[in-house]
Amino acid sequence: MFGAAIVLPVLLTAHLVYAAAVRPRLDNGVAKTPPMGWNTYNHYSCSPNETIVKSNAKALVDLGLADLGYRYVTTDCGWTVRDRTANGSLTWNETLFPNGFPALGEYIHGLGLLFGVYEDAGIRSCQINIQQAGSLYHEAQDAALFASWNIDALKYDNCFSDAATGYPNVNYAPSTSPSARYANMTKALAAQNRAVLFQICEWGVDFPALWAPLLGHT
Ligand SMILES: *[C@@H]1O[C@H](CO)[C@@H](O)[C@H](O)[C@H]1NC(C)=O
Ligand SMILES: *[C@@H]1O[C@H](CO)[C@@H](O)[C@H](O)[C@H]1NC(C)=O
Ligand SMILES: *[C@@H]1O[C@H](CO)[C@@H](O)[C@H](O)[C@H]1NC(C)=O
Ligand SMILES: *[C@@H]1O[C@H](CO)[C@@H](O)[C@H](O)[C@H]1NC(C)=O
Repeated sequence: MFGAAIVLPVLLTAHLVYAAAVRPRLDNGVAKTPPMGWNTYNHYSCSPNETIVKSNAKALVDLGLADLGYRYVTTDCGWTVRDRTANGSLTWNETLFPNGFPALGEYIHGLGLLFGVYEDAGIRSCQINIQQAGSLYHEAQDAALFASWNIDALKYDNCFSDAATGYPNVNYAPSTSPSARYANMTKALAAQNRAVLFQICEWGVDFPALWAPLLGHT
């Protein structure tokens, strides 16, 4: 009968130990539950296009997956181009996305889904043969551009982190941690008027479990 009185303090202690071990997390209101959705990379690698994104977004709705919570539709690597525009903005590949990214976002939002884009915390994004601009040193400008497109998610990769020739730069004990590059994008996103899901895709370099929870969501 009195077993519970003994067990309870043990449980409380265990809870306190657990709470102390969990890192503080970035909390901007999103990702209260694990974010779910669809990303071009898993089937189309770095070759997305407008038709693919639209048809798969529509399929999330038509198949009933959206109702189950699969709502993020993210266009991964391959959407942008090598050169920024004259004012330094990123832009989309017009052959692959003839109607452009703002219109793509409107289409996705029109289906009741969430609009995700992809960039890279390095000099170039992750493609070996085709050069595409990365966001390193352009974080504030790119975050503002993405917010102007009404994005809901940013997947942020880690290729070409040190040099335009270093692909993919998988250095698990880097001389400088990727954390500062990711922190700069976290800060840039926080300065926008939208709550964006920030997906840190840095492949485990420099023990992200120790620093990434404060900077992003996944
Ligand atoms: C889009 O990608 C699909 C699948 O790879 C391909 O069949 C189609 O030709 C592409 N469309 C354009 C406009 O590039
Ligand atoms: C746009 O994508 C097509 C198909 O991958 C490619 O041939 C073309 O070079 C790209 N354009 C630019 C400006 O990168
Ligand atoms: C930069 O130029 C592009 C056209 O190349 C334009 O769409 C965009 O609004 C400009 N951005 C700013 C911040 O002026
Ligand atoms: C982060 O941004 C600051 C400017 O706000 C810059 O001085 C610093 O070099 C950046 N850090 C990295 C690692 O890119």
